[in-house]
Order: sequence, then C-alpha cells, then structure tokens
Amino acid sequence: MPNYTAPRGTQDVLPENQPYWRHVVRRAHHIAALYGFQQIDVPMFEETSLFVRGVGEGTDIVDNEMYSFEDKGGSELTLRPEFTAGLVRAYIEHGMHALPQPVKLYAIGPIFRYERPQAGRYRQHTQFNIEAFGEVDPALDAEIMEVARHLCADLGFGGLSFQVNSTGCPKCRPQYVSRLVDYYHQHEDAICEDCERRLVRNPLRVLDCKVATCQPIIAGASHIVDDLCEECAAHFGELQQYLRALGRAYTINHRLVRGLDYYQKTVFEVWSQDIGAQAAVFGGGRYDGLAELLGGPPTPGIGFGSGIERLILAMQAQEIEVPPLPKPRVLVATLGDEAKRVGVKLLSDMRTTDVGAVIAFGERSLRSQLREAGKQEVRYVVMIGQDELRDQVVTVRDMSTRDQYTVPPDELVAWLTERLAG
Ligand code: HAM
Repeated sequence: MPNYTAPRGTQDVLPENQPYWRHVVRRAHHIAALYGFQQIDVPMFEETSLFVRGVGEGTDIVDNEMYSFEDKGGSELTLRPEFTAGLVRAYIEHGMHALPQPVKLYAIGPIFRYERPQAGRYRQHTQFNIEAFGEVDPALDAEIMEVARHLCADLGFGGLSFQVNSTGCPKCRPQYVSRLVDYYHQHEDAICEDCERRLVRNPLRVLDCKVATCQPIIAGASHIVDDLCEECAAHFGELQQYLRALGRAYTINHRLVRGLDYYQKTVFEVWSQDIGAQAAVFGGGRYDGLAELLGGPPTPGIGFGSGIERLILAMQAQEIEVPPLPKPRVLVATLGDEAKRVGVKLLSDMRTTDVGAVIAFGERSLRSQLREAGKQEVRYVVMIGQDELRDQVVTVRDMSTRDQYTVPPDELVAWLTERLAG
C-alpha cells in the first residue's frame, strides 16, 4: 500500500481517461454557446451562509454534506456544494439585472459534497451547470431541457428518460404540504425514521424516500400537480405543450421533488438506464424566489447541473468512442553528444512551428531509440549520427512504411509540416 491515496470519494483522472474529459467539456462549451449561454467562473468557496440560505436548512446538502471551515481570518466558508447559489450571488453582485434579460450563464468546475461514495457518487465531482436569469416564460424551461437533450445526443448516448414535475410556488405549495403532512400523520406507524424527520424539516422530501415500507404510503399520496395554483398549472401546461411541439418524450414523475429547497414550478431530471443507482445525469429546475432570498432584486431563474463523471460513465457503458488527444508525431534519435546538440536545436524549431516532437533522452542505442518511437507511435523518426553530421543532413524514417529520406536540416521543419498535414 502506498503511504497516500486520493481522499475517499475523489479520483485522479489519468491520461488514458483524459480524451473523454476533453471531449465532453469541449462539447459542453460548444452547445452552451449554440444556445446563447456565456461562460462565468465563480470561486470554489463562498460564505457558508450563502448555501445555508440558498440551498436551505433541512436539506441533505446543508445538514450533512458541506465542507465548511473557518479560515485564518475567521470567515465561515464552504467549498461549493453546487453552482446555483454562487451564480445567483454573482448575478446580483455584478448588477446583471440591468442587462437585457434573460442573462444566460454557464460554468464548469468541481463541486464538493461529503456523501457516501459509490459508483457515480463522489465527494468531488465536476459539474456542467447552466442558468438563465430574468425570464418566466415556460419556453425557457423547455429550452433548458433542450440543452440537456442536445448534449446527450451530441455525445452519442441514448437510453435516457426525462422526468418532469412541478413543485408549485409559495402560493400553492404550503397547502399541498399540509395535506401531505396530514396524510402522513395517518400512517405514522409505518413510515421510516428518516421520513419522520423529513415531515418536520422538509416534508416534500418524503416523496423521494427509497425505503421499502414507505413505498405504499408514497403511492397513496396525492399529487402536487393536482394542487397547483392557476399560474403554476398554466406554466406546467405550457411547458408540456412546448415539449410536445418539440416531439420530446417525458414522464411526469409525481415523486420528483429534488434535494434543494430553492425550486419552484418546474423541476426535472434526466436519467440514464446504464449507470446504476446514481442514474441522474442532469438535474435542475426553476428557482424564481432565490435571487430575492439572497438579497437581490426579484429575479426568476432556471437551470440544471450535470455531472461530467456520470456523462462519461454513460458514454463508456455504451462504448462510445471519443477522438484521441493530439500527441507528438516525431521523435528525434541521436548518436553522440554533437548529434544530440543538433537534435535539441531541431526539436526546438519543430515545436516552435507547432510540430509536436520528442527526443530520446540519455545515452541509448539507435535500436532502443527506435523502440521508444514505436511505443510512442510517432509517425517519423529524425535520425542524426556521425554520417549525417559529416554530410550535414538528417535521415527521416517514416515509421509506417519504413521508407527513409535524406533531408537538409534547414528544410526539415517544412518537410515534416507538409507531410504531417496530409
Ligand atoms: P443536483 O441534482 O444536486 O443539482 O446535481 C446536478 C447533477 O450533478 C446530478 O444530476 C448529477 O449528474 C451530478 N452530481 C450531483 N452530485 C454528485 C455526486 N456526488 N457525484 C457525482 N455527480 C453528482 C444541483 O446541484 C443544482 N444546483 C442544479 C441546478 C442548476 N438547478 C438549477 N440550476
């Protein structure tokens, strides 16, 4: 056992997995831009109270999962357990309500939650997160879901289901919640301990319980969509009309309430059938009261977060290939000190002109250097030995055909550039 390993629930992304990361992140940037989202970066930590207020006391995230600490100056800080609160903070702080609305932003970066690690659930994961501020139109809700669908289609994986619900608003939700609590009180003997606690701290979350004995009780509960006020019902109805107009299949999931308190109206998740118990590759919804709660002007908002690790798991489960990353195409092999000095200069010229190249370091036989070229899968080996020094040329071997060419050193870069472009 090594002395140190990566902390529990974290992982190293090794070079062999980087092509997936590079590809998914590149496509996420591309698709965000297609839909008019602009990139923003926010700090990896914020004041703890931002998340306590924003995400909500009584949520798993705030109660159990935050990496919170006091810094040396006495500030109470928390490693971001999600993006939304930080992006709303940035929207308010930079006066973005004065810009034409909606303001559409996206961010990509690490998120920290002290969770019980398992496949697809980590203590540090990376989210692609989009938010649109300042617009209540349900066509925007449909657009946000389209970004999720588009990214999956672009990455090439299927087997997805779109789960949609409405969680109402402060006008209609309390009535549903009190009805739910009354109903649960009638079944108090049968519910799990967690649900007993949820009933007090966060009643809607009982609908999300996975314990077997709670399932019949959930099945008998009334549906929040049947208790929506006129405005929320109309919003949900219009969203569905847009989804149908787009020809998108979706399931109304009456149990979908999400684990963050700021949601109002639309909530949704995208589930993959291929990645095990942690099936949600996207999760999001509307949070029309959040900006005000955080001290800003009343500003509606909607967005989603998606775990890059889960997107990659889904792609790998479906054996989707990604483009390889660029690597050096040339190796410089030299024999003797003087040859190596010439080689080092040529290597520098190649790199300056964007030809990726490496040199075989150390004192090694030509055979060993060629073996290295084979391992590195370069296309050309530039060989410099006594004969080449004497004749003031280099010998270039094409590794795929084994053909050899004699090239003057000052023509080498142009010679390689032309052939590597073909
Ligand atoms: P969330 O559902 O907590 O929502 O996370 C969004 C997505 O991040 C999940 O669907 C999943 O793909 C990924 N994810 C979450 N936790 C983990 C984990 N421990 N390990 C691996 N992946 C994970 C939010 O965070 C909201 N802020 C999303 C949002 C944005 N809502 C509105 N705007």
